[in-house]
Amino acid sequence: MMSRTCGSPEPDAGAACSESVPESGAAISSVKKNIHILVGVTGSVASLKLPLLVSGLLAIPGLEVAVVTTERAKHFYKACDVPVTIYSDADEWEMWKSLSDPVLHIDLRRWADLLVVAPLDANTLGKVASGICDNLLTSVIRAWDRTKPLLFCPAMNTAMWEHPVTAQHMEQLKGFGYIEIPCVAKKLACGDEGLGAMAEVCTILGKVKEILLERDLLHQS
Ligand SMILES: Cc1cc2nc3c(=O)[nH]c(=O)nc-3n(C[C@H](O)[C@H](O)[C@H](O)COP(=O)(O)O)c2cc1C
Repeated sequence: MMSRTCGSPEPDAGAACSESVPESGAAISSVKKNIHILVGVTGSVASLKLPLLVSGLLAIPGLEVAVVTTERAKHFYKACDVPVTIYSDADEWEMWKSLSDPVLHIDLRRWADLLVVAPLDANTLGKVASGICDNLLTSVIRAWDRTKPLLFCPAMNTAMWEHPVTAQHMEQLKGFGYIEIPCVAKKLACGDEGLGAMAEVCTILGKVKEILLERDLLHQS
């Protein structure tokens, strides 16, 4: 796959949990080298946490990480703060010129052992629920091998969360076998207070580790 990185800072493996990366390597060793984790990121303000999430994943021994971003998500993080390759729609189209060229969304679904979409905003949630695939991330998801884990972390304003269509979409995703990492209640960036905030990064990392252990990709040392 093509590589577009922006510096390679050491992952911050030892910081405290609430707003930084938990200690990840202590109790876990990998049995399979280079477990490939694909992080999907969408246009929620919670995408601010992408650098922290990626650093936390890189602190788990044996994980290789890449990111697929929507165009709107790019607004919320600096690529230079994310020390792994970030793929977006332009890469998909620039990469394919003739029949022998790679199709990026298919290469990525083959490459990844696990996909975690964090945050999953209301728009992409709706698209995934109904099968729409009009960008790189939704194409990866539409082509996803459902024998592999797909985790998703909804994040949206409380009013959006409470709209009845959200519950329908959530049921559809869970029906596909995708794993919800539930949103939490707190004061949101818009000032409203209630459910809809993305799960804490340490919760997401814990769930990723749990699933990798369950699938025998990692084992407790
Ligand atoms: C500052 C700002 C914050 C936003 N935060 C959220 C959010 O947390 N959740 C959400 O569902 N939409 C949020 N949106 C709206 C999405 O960005 C919008 O629906 C967009 O079309 C999503 O595109 P994407 O799903 O392709 O990334 C926000 C928009 C702005 C301008």
